[in-house]
Amino acid sequence: MTDQNKHLPENQIRIFDTTLRDGEQSAGAALTNSEKMQIARQLAKLNVDVIEAGFPFSSPGDFESVRQIAAEIEGPIIAGLARTMPEDINAAWDAVKVAKKPRIHTFIATSDIHIQAKFKKTREEILNVATDMVTLAASKCSDVEFSAEDAGRTEPFFLYKVVESVIDAGATTVNIPDTVGYTIPDEFGRLIKGIMTNVPNVDQAIISVHCHNDLGLAVANSIAGIQNGARQVECTINGIGERAGNAAMEELVMALKVRPQYFEGLYTNITTEHFYETSQMVSDLTSLTVQHNKAVVGSNAFAHESGIHQDGFLKGRDTYEIMRPEWIGLSGAKLPLGPRSGRAAVRARLTRIGIEPTNEQMIAIFEAFKKLADEKKRIEDDDLKMLYKKAL
Ligand code: KIV
Ligand code: ZN
Repeated sequence: MTDQNKHLPENQIRIFDTTLRDGEQSAGAALTNSEKMQIARQLAKLNVDVIEAGFPFSSPGDFESVRQIAAEIEGPIIAGLARTMPEDINAAWDAVKVAKKPRIHTFIATSDIHIQAKFKKTREEILNVATDMVTLAASKCSDVEFSAEDAGRTEPFFLYKVVESVIDAGATTVNIPDTVGYTIPDEFGRLIKGIMTNVPNVDQAIISVHCHNDLGLAVANSIAGIQNGARQVECTINGIGERAGNAAMEELVMALKVRPQYFEGLYTNITTEHFYETSQMVSDLTSLTVQHNKAVVGSNAFAHESGIHQDGFLKGRDTYEIMRPEWIGLSGAKLPLGPRSGRAAVRARLTRIGIEPTNEQMIAIFEAFKKLADEKKRIEDDDLKMLYKKAL
């Protein structure tokens, strides 16, 4: 294991951000190099452990962007992606070698579906290519990650053999992707457990997970992975990525923070207070809007709409709030006023804007509020001021 892996505490979950690589593979999300640099600076502020900056061999522009990020960003490891081909590995190394902490990330598919359809090779040939190319990468860089693409659909005993062999060849992190988002949490957890128990040299590397969201299970599968021994999670901001995307970093990290009793001391080093601004930045730069009800960073994630919820929330936040909006960098929860709002929420908003009506005035205001809310759907502070004036 490299020093970079060795020095991290046993219980720390490494956050490997791939917003700039897998995230940028989202249809329509292309970023310019200066936009990628802006995001990389923000990821460093968030304190991610690894930034996968791009795929250097894929284009001269990508090479230059990875090189610039490697030259400027300090703190996180900077990884460049490479297929298991010498020209890719050379390009990845040339792009990341200026980094304080460089990593070469090389991958090849290991499932029979991919081996037969894409490569028309045998398992044995794939094993040899993987091993040889990890050996090449390790001759250049002391931090090498190997990914067994489509591991989720790979025959487990073949996968164990691949993992063992690439670790022997010098891989310091071995990533187990559910490339097509096909697995179910229990199944994916068992796959990781199988690796932890059947690969004799598994203690010589960090096992990583990389889950896609085709069935909406990317975060749940990643959690099953870490509960069964994985210590690195690959994820993206807002869950962007190929097709339905990758595991959303903000969801995974907040799950660990909010429900620590299920994680036996496991933690991340993420500064969660930067999540909201990071989410907004990635959304603005990629033009991929965040759905309103998106967990953690959606605009409704801390908005309580119904009268019953607003009343409960005003009596005690814990009734309907499982995490504080301040933890992700918001100033507080929202209680939007609309047709379903109750008297308590209307009075609380009046107080917030400096109006303290008598009980009699409050009856008149609330009656007029209900009529107006039916027409307008959303009542703003100016509407309340107008209703108060009428009730005087
Ligand atoms: O989904 C996948 O398998 C990948 C690999 C390149 C890690 O993105
Ligand atoms: Zn992926």
